[in-house]
Amino acid sequence: MCGIVGYIGKQKASPILINGLMRLEYRGYDSAGISTIEPEGLVVMKDKGRVKNLYDLDGINDLKGTIGIAHTRWATHGKPSKENAHPHQDNSKLFSVVHNGIIENYNELRKFLTDKGYKFYSDTDTEVVPNLIHYYFSKDDEKDIKMRLLKAIKATCADLKGSFALEIICKDLPDNMIVVRKDSPLVIGKGDGENYISSDIPAILSFTRNFYLLNDLEYVFLSRDSAEFYDKDLNKIDKQIQSIEWDASSSEKNGYEDFMLKEIYEQPTAIRETIGAKFNENSKCEFDELNFSKEYLSSVNKIYIVACGTAMHAGLAGKNVFEKLCRIPTEVDVASEFRYRDPLIDDKTLCIFVSQSGETADTIAALKLSKERGAKTISISNVIGSSITREADYSMYTHAGPEIAVASTKAHTSQIVLLIMIAIYFAEVLGKDSKELLELKKELLELPKQIEQCLTLADTVKEFAHKIYQEKDVFFIGRGVDEVVAKEASLKLKEISYIHSESYPAGELKHGAIALIEKGITVVGIMTDPTLVEKTVSNLQEVITRGAKTLIVTNQKIDKSMFDVVVEVPETNPFLSPVLSVIPLQLLAYYISKEKGLDVDKPRNLAKSVTVE
Ligand code: F6R
Repeated sequence: MCGIVGYIGKQKASPILINGLMRLEYRGYDSAGISTIEPEGLVVMKDKGRVKNLYDLDGINDLKGTIGIAHTRWATHGKPSKENAHPHQDNSKLFSVVHNGIIENYNELRKFLTDKGYKFYSDTDTEVVPNLIHYYFSKDDEKDIKMRLLKAIKATCADLKGSFALEIICKDLPDNMIVVRKDSPLVIGKGDGENYISSDIPAILSFTRNFYLLNDLEYVFLSRDSAEFYDKDLNKIDKQIQSIEWDASSSEKNGYEDFMLKEIYEQPTAIRETIGAKFNENSKCEFDELNFSKEYLSSVNKIYIVACGTAMHAGLAGKNVFEKLCRIPTEVDVASEFRYRDPLIDDKTLCIFVSQSGETADTIAALKLSKERGAKTISISNVIGSSITREADYSMYTHAGPEIAVASTKAHTSQIVLLIMIAIYFAEVLGKDSKELLELKKELLELPKQIEQCLTLADTVKEFAHKIYQEKDVFFIGRGVDEVVAKEASLKLKEISYIHSESYPAGELKHGAIALIEKGITVVGIMTDPTLVEKTVSNLQEVITRGAKTLIVTNQKIDKSMFDVVVEVPETNPFLSPVLSVIPLQLLAYYISKEKGLDVDKPRNLAKSVTVE
């Protein structure tokens, strides 16, 4: 999705802006552009295609401005083209604006402005913004130009329906920039005599680790060495700086060929950090963020875990644990469905929202709906200060470090671990069987080492990837919690290798999909639940009889002779096995994508953070 970078300081802005945009490339985009304040006025340089193409634009090296805004666009309104790329300007070129999000009522605003004589040169929703600012700015007689601009931006924001993060520079205020956000991320990084702005923390981590996090409709008036904050009515407010623990090298490849591979290998650390000091074998699980009483938890009639994609799969792995340990009915919902299906929620419902980025539009909307209906809400996110964390009653963090590859790996396994830890905490508060909980905690602490063992399977998986990378269809099957892993493995494979894949509960295959099994088709079986392993073996026999090739992921003693390849993962508590058995299948998707010569980190049509509905 679109990305924003901004700079206001003493250095030449354009290289900083382009470098920042390059760090946002992982989000997915189709065009890029920058605008800087030059002695002769505002200059805009933009083009379709890669960020590096900006370096080829005539005059880009002559830019001297020390204030500028920049954008990578992921087309929503209007095709990818130079005209539709940001920044956009008003007709008199007084303002340059970049925008993330969607202006839902742009047609109406465009008509309003057209009737007033404004002309439009792009198909975007964004172009109404600089023109509206110009409209309000030019009809105000306020003498103080700074207040006049703030008032014009405020009036513009009041007219906009939808979501936006905006950076605005003005020819008449050559030493300033104004930014504002609503339902779309934007942070300000504080440097020494300079400020950095971005939609994503990793883009500016190499410059600073001190950030101001903005709430909806807070306006920031930036100078080189200051940031003034205003609330929605333009009253001045104070804001605290927050330090982010991530360091700059955590968003570099550090010798790995791709971010995805690096992030797969970072999973032992991500899990260690997520567990942190929240418990040890003998102590109860404690969270500074949660203070639930036995009385409250006993009154909870239902838990909903709501998320999208891979984060939703983490929820499915957590569902079992809440039901079995806490005996609370738990449902998992896709956020985009949940918000429209009139879910049964009341003040006895507890809703948990899982999102790596914390910015997924559907998940945020589902959270808002749950709050409106009286539920208590918990967010699980990997990004400090992300939107979801500010909406939820309780915000919890996975400590996976920045996840750059579009395909989620370390965030996913960290989410499962955090959900399980929350379930343990609930069970302890509820006074459930402490022996079972002690055992589970002991095994949780073993996970990082066991993940390291799973990573040693890479060569075997790579060999299998080489055998099947040209295939058209792959099936993943499993039962119980293994079916959750089948779902996640199938999603991972299709998103980065473009191979069609499906996942099925192993016993369900023969109710239809087995018709697709023929000689040479690959079926991946996941078998870690000792009570179900024999049943899944029978289902695998059915596909082998029909000519399928098989890859098995298991931690059980099975007769390996009937399968093509068997990879063995360490044995653990069945609640935890999805964290281990998914690792070889993340590697399978990765190596198949590499064999096909694809861009692993930036798969086509996908964005890292889906900030629109
Ligand atoms: C797939 C993947 C997506 C995300 C989904 C939700 O590998 O990463 O399915 O899990 O878009 O994103 P977040 O977790 O940021 O809400």
